[in-house]
Amino acid sequence: MKEQLIQRYSAPERINHWIVAVCFILLAISGLAFFYPAFFWLTGVFGTPQLARIIHPFVGVVMFLAFLRQFFRYYHHNFIDAEDVKWMKAVGTVMKGGEVGDTGRYNGGQKGMFWLMSGCMALLLLSGIVAWRPYFAASFPIPLIRVALLVHASSALALIAGIIVHVYAALWVKGTIRAMVEGVVTHAWARKHHPRWYREMTGNKR
Ligand code: HEM
Repeated sequence: MKEQLIQRYSAPERINHWIVAVCFILLAISGLAFFYPAFFWLTGVFGTPQLARIIHPFVGVVMFLAFLRQFFRYYHHNFIDAEDVKWMKAVGTVMKGGEVGDTGRYNGGQKGMFWLMSGCMALLLLSGIVAWRPYFAASFPIPLIRVALLVHASSALALIAGIIVHVYAALWVKGTIRAMVEGVVTHAWARKHHPRWYREMTGNKR
């Protein structure tokens, strides 16, 4: 029998997502290299340590702008409702493979992750600008630059931890990666993990 598929992401949406993901990996690698001496050798991702220091903030701006596009694409799908609260309270059941609540396009975990990503992106950009030598840092007092660097490192660590969970979940829930690679999911995937979205997309009652 032919597999029944639902379109979840268009090609522009997928390209947008993978631009953010590639920028994130480059930034995480170079950022960790600046932060922990043991990872200094990772500055090689941009050629030399000097180049890594110059390029890192520009890639950061590209990631921010690409994420901003994602933000405006998806924020209205990520408002947390009563079904998501049910999902969050029963996350233990979800971890054991069960499904909880009448989940729409995204579940409570994905929505929480979306707002974590958005908050971290905003903090990273603002703190990054304050600390960005030689362009902007000279306009700010040194104590503020120090606070900005603390905020930058903390939000980067929170985002890295968040993205580890995001990637793990994407691999763990079978059929999810296909949504971001081919743009489609199966009816069975949608019915199981996002029943309300499945009904909206297909017009089926259940
Ligand atoms: C690096 C490897 C990554 C992988 C394998 C990955 C995988 C995926 C997959 C499979 C989806 C679709 C989930 C679904 O529709 O149910 C998705 C959605 C999404 N991803 Fe990623 N992703 C990665 C990195 C990132 C990064 C670095 C960001 C941003 C910081 C990001 C932001 C998003 C957003 C905003 C969505 C839409 C979900 C929503 O609005 O809640 N992803 N990702």
